[in-house]
Amino acid sequence: MILNTELEHKGNLFPNKIVSFKKDVDKIYFYTANNVVLQVTVIRDSVLRFRFTTVGSFSRDFSYAISSQASRGYNQLDITETTESYEISTSKIICVISKKDLKTVLYDAVDKTLICQDELGFHWEESYELGGDIVKMSKHSETSESFYGLGDKPCQNNLKGKRFENWVTDSYAFGKDTDPIYKAIPFYIGLHSKKSYGIFFDNTFKTYFDFCHERRSVTSFWAMGGEMNYYFIYGPEMNDVIANYTDLTGRPKHLPPLWALGYHQCKWSYFPEAKVKEVTQKFRELKIPCDAIYLDIDYMDGFRCFTWNKDYFPDPKRMVAELADDGFKTIVIIDPGIKIDPDYWVFQEGLENKYFCKRADGPYVKGKVWPGECYFPDFTNPKVREWWADLFKELIEEIGVKGVWNDMNEPAVMDVPGKSFPDDVRHNYDGSNCSHRKAHNVYGMQMARATYHGLKKFSYPKRPFVITRAAYSGTQRYTSTWTGDNVATWEHLQIANAQAQRMSLSGFSFVGSDIGGFAEQPNGELYARWIQLGVFHPFCRTHSSGDHGDQEPYAFGTNITDIVRKFIEIRYQLLPYLYTAFWKYIEEGVPIIKSLVVYDQEDQQTYFRNDEFIYGESILVCPIVEPNSKGRRMYFPNGKWYNFFNNELIEGGEEKWVDADIDTLPVFVKEGAIIPKYPIQQYVGELEITELKIDVYYKLGKESSMVYEDGQDGYDYMKGRYSIRNFNLVGKEDVLIIQQFKSGKFTTSYEIIELNIIGLPFEKGIVEVDNEIIDYSAIQSNIVRARKDFTEIRIYNKYCEIPLKE
Ligand code: GLC
Repeated sequence: MILNTELEHKGNLFPNKIVSFKKDVDKIYFYTANNVVLQVTVIRDSVLRFRFTTVGSFSRDFSYAISSQASRGYNQLDITETTESYEISTSKIICVISKKDLKTVLYDAVDKTLICQDELGFHWEESYELGGDIVKMSKHSETSESFYGLGDKPCQNNLKGKRFENWVTDSYAFGKDTDPIYKAIPFYIGLHSKKSYGIFFDNTFKTYFDFCHERRSVTSFWAMGGEMNYYFIYGPEMNDVIANYTDLTGRPKHLPPLWALGYHQCKWSYFPEAKVKEVTQKFRELKIPCDAIYLDIDYMDGFRCFTWNKDYFPDPKRMVAELADDGFKTIVIIDPGIKIDPDYWVFQEGLENKYFCKRADGPYVKGKVWPGECYFPDFTNPKVREWWADLFKELIEEIGVKGVWNDMNEPAVMDVPGKSFPDDVRHNYDGSNCSHRKAHNVYGMQMARATYHGLKKFSYPKRPFVITRAAYSGTQRYTSTWTGDNVATWEHLQIANAQAQRMSLSGFSFVGSDIGGFAEQPNGELYARWIQLGVFHPFCRTHSSGDHGDQEPYAFGTNITDIVRKFIEIRYQLLPYLYTAFWKYIEEGVPIIKSLVVYDQEDQQTYFRNDEFIYGESILVCPIVEPNSKGRRMYFPNGKWYNFFNNELIEGGEEKWVDADIDTLPVFVKEGAIIPKYPIQQYVGELEITELKIDVYYKLGKESSMVYEDGQDGYDYMKGRYSIRNFNLVGKEDVLIIQQFKSGKFTTSYEIIELNIIGLPFEKGIVEVDNEIIDYSAIQSNIVRARKDFTEIRIYNKYCEIPLKE
């Protein structure tokens, strides 16, 4: 059955009046005359969970999405009763629940603004055919409300007016607005009255979201089974909504190794060994930095996971070691389908231990993928996950592979309707058996989780690196991701940008696209423009289907190679900046890239912007998304912005034309920012960092920035061996002051910090470093060098007579 409309379905049932109520610590229960129970849990002052049952009692409370480390605890919880309603108040939210029909209205506790209000509220339809309820929720949409989120939807940023489905799907050569595609992230953010809130509908069945599409002032979401179980997360700042969402569903368990933030080169496929070497050598010869080289399915013996094609790769351990000597980490693909082959050990083990998924009536699910007919491990079974994790021992511990790329894990099945398992397939679901209807959206997530645990175990004491294609909310705890099989077109360059931003604001920051496009062939211009964008995405990899020609940075002629090299070099210079943003993402839940609306929700100009985004805390990037461009118009958020390439200062708050010929891109730095840079390296760790360069962008006023560093791999940083430099910049008319506060026990390899002062409105004269005066007046350049642990630097106007101390 296909549910076309949420509202017009005739069989809707609604809760009756509340007949009793009970409070149990942080949970409040409301019972209605017709057996509906609403359980409201106060998770934090700004996070409430709403859970409904229509049968009088709840079944097991279990979620793959919610992190075991999610914070709990609130400052205030009051419940009051009036003749019409119950009122639950925390220090952030007031939630009013109507006694008549369980409908809920949520207000900002501080200024009493209405934030979110039920329209029909919770209702449901009994489905004889599916054997459960179709659970539904509808809410009023406020005037001019905007909507964001939902993971990888390939459409414009603001979701208003659209309807979506969440059902992870293999979507080769998907297009703009194709829905659904690879990921199911049932989380969105609403924004009106300059205040934002989030709704996370933690239901793994097929879910739908309608943002004023069916009816102009109504937003609704529903699922084809399971519970109406959603979290309301109040901001009012979007960054706080996202931070609270990632607190609930988790953040990466640790930082990636720094090399994983370098540039990655991939293709379907590089083989045999000689070809792999040819590619890696070319990178070194042409001095194009690169840290990772990928082996797609052809490295395997007949596409059997955990095997090698010995004709192509006679001695993988030696090859991987040789690549490592040259700075390349080898990453291999692993798919879920296990070839049906009685002589294949992985198949034998899976069969003997009953690890493969079965149909409802008993036989194994058989499906065609690359190796031909396959069986599929049930990753929702904890024992299967343990077994799977252990399968990586040889690859990682013995052969030395550094990362694993999980693909086809929707799971994708070829040549069948729905491109995946049939609905009746059974899953363990961590102890409460269920059908594929419930497990489908988490299958890939659980595969990535098992892979992560394997890599973590066998990579120790180094950090693991995993990539996944399919994901459900919470998958960001284990792995990075890419946006799947896109196409080498200009439109797809734009889609890649929208998807990366959307994934970031949906809590999953470690994301990138197949640079250049997977299907078809980009020309040099498109490839260069895509690299220019891709180096500002947290995961940066060129990948292509390989059947349309070459797609390496050097495949498009010298001009393009030079441009691509220049931008990959910028990525490497900015590694400490990206690493710091990653640390902030893990520590505070701040997305690594931010759509302009996330950056400044006070400014309504940002609500419908798609192309511009903020990379880290203070770099504004706007890709060029059309051929033959000499530049473009773009929106500058409020404040002043320095051109990254020529330091020209621009006043924000409006749209402006920016020149950007093929060798450059509109990239700007917020005034007052301090941007750390490493020297250009061909791979992470090639050079010992002997000094940290920081670009200091003058601002009249104050700004703070930070730089996070550690051993770049391993877990010592979790024991305090990290270095955080907090900088305060204070710009005045005649002096620029930079203060540094250091914390952490890591000793960086360099002794000197070199400050490159940009935008100083006066001529540099005397410089004071920790009260010691250095006369720089004869030195023309804007460089100041200081011991790395300086606490205060003052740069005075050359014509200001006496250094003014306040
Ligand atoms: C899928 C993946 C793609 C990969 C190919 C072959 O299409 O999305 O990245 O190269 O399979 O393994």
